[in-house]
Amino acid sequence: MQFATKALRVGQDPDPKFRAVVPPIYQSSTFAWEDLDHIPPIDYSRCQNPTREMFEKVVAALENGEHCTAFSSGMAAVAATLALLQQGDHLLMANDIYGGTFRLAEKYLPRNGVSYSGFDAQNPESIRSVIQATSKLLIFEGPTNPTMRVPDIKKICDIAHEYGLTVVFDNTFASPALQTPLDYGVDVVLHSTTKYISGHSDVVGGATITNNSDLAYFIYEWNKAFGSNPSPFDNWLSLRGVRTLSCRMERHCKNAMVIAEYLEAHSQVTKVHYPGLKSHPDHEVAKKQMSDFGGMVSIEFVTVAEARWVAEHVGIFLLAESLGGVESLIAYPPLMSHATMTEEQRVERGIPPTMLRLSIGIEDAQDLIEDLGQAIASYPAKVPATV
Ligand SMILES: Cc1ncc(COP(=O)(O)O)c(C=O)c1O
Repeated sequence: MQFATKALRVGQDPDPKFRAVVPPIYQSSTFAWEDLDHIPPIDYSRCQNPTREMFEKVVAALENGEHCTAFSSGMAAVAATLALLQQGDHLLMANDIYGGTFRLAEKYLPRNGVSYSGFDAQNPESIRSVIQATSKLLIFEGPTNPTMRVPDIKKICDIAHEYGLTVVFDNTFASPALQTPLDYGVDVVLHSTTKYISGHSDVVGGATITNNSDLAYFIYEWNKAFGSNPSPFDNWLSLRGVRTLSCRMERHCKNAMVIAEYLEAHSQVTKVHYPGLKSHPDHEVAKKQMSDFGGMVSIEFVTVAEARWVAEHVGIFLLAESLGGVESLIAYPPLMSHATMTEEQRVERGIPPTMLRLSIGIEDAQDLIEDLGQAIASYPAKVPATV
């Protein structure tokens, strides 16, 4: 079965009683036992729920994985995978990892006696120089947020596995429609399903996918133990969203490419970060491991004032956190996704205060171009360049 068909049919047979074509919401916390000799297959919704199970089956299939666990947020999925680390263990984390994952490693893992070192995912050999005898797990992601770098997944997995590390990859920005990291050797893929998988900016959720049954069981039990399970309604929304992932992603990519080309040619935009552009440093890696280049584009201006002006003067793009929904969003990383980092940490990670991040939606591309164009053109040069 091909991707688009799997998204609509895996785990979603018509319900056995009424043959409803749309999977029902099993909005029940508990399930009745027939008698004490027959435990129902699902008995309590913190542990499992039929709507959640349907969502997990389809997400696993889309990632070419066996096991999926759904969570109440992407961060809960990150926390569950990092919980594989015990006191005394060491984590390798890509320098340009998502800010929330960075916060978890920096602030909370040390409380459990777990230390971490950063590595440069664009230089897989750098792993060798930071590895320690106690290193157990490596986490990275791509395209990265908001710099849109594309690490070579296979190269990183090969080196990490030489040292026996468990490799975790956050596939939120690409989605399984564009990239299936388990096929390159990743041990656990995770998602903020809030983003492309659900796709309509109406639910927060997460998921992990793996082919390793021991890892799968640990993660499933952690979710049950910590109670970070999603609600049946949230799972239903995510399930409804994932059914259209394939065609949404096609449009996100098509729009993003046209917009990236327009912005690259614009005299007031100093840099465009989009892996679909030939000028992008990871264009070749992206071509090798992704089926298209995604819906996320970052841009830079000469001054902070100009970047802020554009963020505040778009009309169709909405100034908001998050990404991957059908509507276009514009974000200013220093005050949004990367607000917990210091200016120095951001600049070190290639995130200057003159950068904006665009989540390109599925609107008409020409309308989006005109919207960005008018916002840039309306910037009054009299605003001091030093602001
Ligand atoms: C790459 C990435 N991973 C994880 C997360 C966390 O997901 P959530 O906000 O669903 O907890 C985000 C959120 O923006 C993200 O962008």
